[in-house]
Amino acid sequence: MKFTRSNHLRRRAHQIIPGGCHTYAKGDDQYPELSPGFIVRGKGSHVFDVDGNEFIEYGMGLRAVTLGHGYERVADAASKAMYEGINFLRPSLLELEYAEELLDVVPGAEMVKFGKHGSDATTAALKLARAYTGREMVAIPAQQPFLSVDDWFIGSTAMPGGIPESQRALTVKFDYNDLNSLESLFEAYPGSIACVIMEAAKEDDPDDNYLQSVKDLCHKYGALFVIDEMITGFRWDIGGAQKYYNIDPDLSTFGKAMANGFSVSALMGKRDIMNLGGLNHNRERVFLMSTTHGAETHALAAARETLRVYKELDVIGELWQKGAILRDGIQAIIDELRLNEFFELNGKDCCLVFGTRDQDRQRSQPFRTLFMQETIKRGLLMPSLIVSYAHTESDLKYTIEMIGEALVVYKKALGEGISKYLIGRSVAPVFRPYNSV
Ligand SMILES: Cc1ncc(COP(=O)(O)O)c(C=O)c1O
Repeated sequence: MKFTRSNHLRRRAHQIIPGGCHTYAKGDDQYPELSPGFIVRGKGSHVFDVDGNEFIEYGMGLRAVTLGHGYERVADAASKAMYEGINFLRPSLLELEYAEELLDVVPGAEMVKFGKHGSDATTAALKLARAYTGREMVAIPAQQPFLSVDDWFIGSTAMPGGIPESQRALTVKFDYNDLNSLESLFEAYPGSIACVIMEAAKEDDPDDNYLQSVKDLCHKYGALFVIDEMITGFRWDIGGAQKYYNIDPDLSTFGKAMANGFSVSALMGKRDIMNLGGLNHNRERVFLMSTTHGAETHALAAARETLRVYKELDVIGELWQKGAILRDGIQAIIDELRLNEFFELNGKDCCLVFGTRDQDRQRSQPFRTLFMQETIKRGLLMPSLIVSYAHTESDLKYTIEMIGEALVVYKKALGEGISKYLIGRSVAPVFRPYNSV
């Protein structure tokens, strides 16, 4: 497999675009040297790069594309809306109609406001919580790697450049599944924490009653409880992890898979809180999610059609089933090669990820790079094992077979040293203070 054109374009891109692209997770430092630099087109679960190479893609659109690339019903709905006008002086009827349809599938939510990015919603949730409680701080789980592109979150990462210390001091962290660590924060900052914002779960399930206890703690200390459904929404369940775990947050935030890749996000929640952004109250007004492009019709039409497809076809069921096929097939190979302590499968079947460990059983970015190099070589673009509705049985069969081959190389590298097999530098975490690691 050749990447000649990709390599040429990479040099051009880094000359004029900081990072070479517009999402760090898509950056060159996230992929092995032998990898496609630019994609020109996708169909279903397959993508084609600038050198004409074809790949089966996993975790498509950073988990936003759940039905498949170029899914016709959604593309047609968006295109029809485009020809009828994208953006008017007054709201489009679609804003109301889709809001009603969406509220129907998220049981506890009473009001909704749309945005373009997930971060629009999580940051707005924090703003509302601050306005509602009159407090400034936010508590987040230390184990959850991403909740927003905005300063309140990025300031808490290993890459806080450009964010004032005064902002950074307002975000504090607790340990997931450890109620005492959260309660200690409420005690350490009395009357200061506006809300807890968290994903309901990552790879590990919440302990029994953990989420309800977090909500109860929040309310005991006068804070709001916000669930970030960016990854879980439209994947674990249409109604997200809150439906899956039967927990009713004050506010929740959706994005990613809502619109099969179109840019739509949503802040949802209880009327008395959400209404602070409205026109019918006498409290101080809150400027809540109001942008020029906020509710463009084509994106909302895509979102509405995506929701309808989910309701008509068993999309969620298939995501779980397809992920289970992958898990079983790959686990059998791991067992056969006796790689259990070196290559692991984590997460729910509908949202499967892998973990790589070196010969000393330590988490390893070089081994992650090697696995990606060997799967790319075999036509798989897979920073994760996250399926879409478009992945076919033969995609899954081929994937399992090729992972089998890649893991044979992985095993050899464990025994003989990775430098013999890895070509070029390792991938590196996005959140690092300096480029060199
Ligand atoms: C859990 C979670 N929350 C929020 C976000 C931010 O979403 P966006 O990138 O659409 O702003 C992400 C993005 O990866 C996410 O994974």
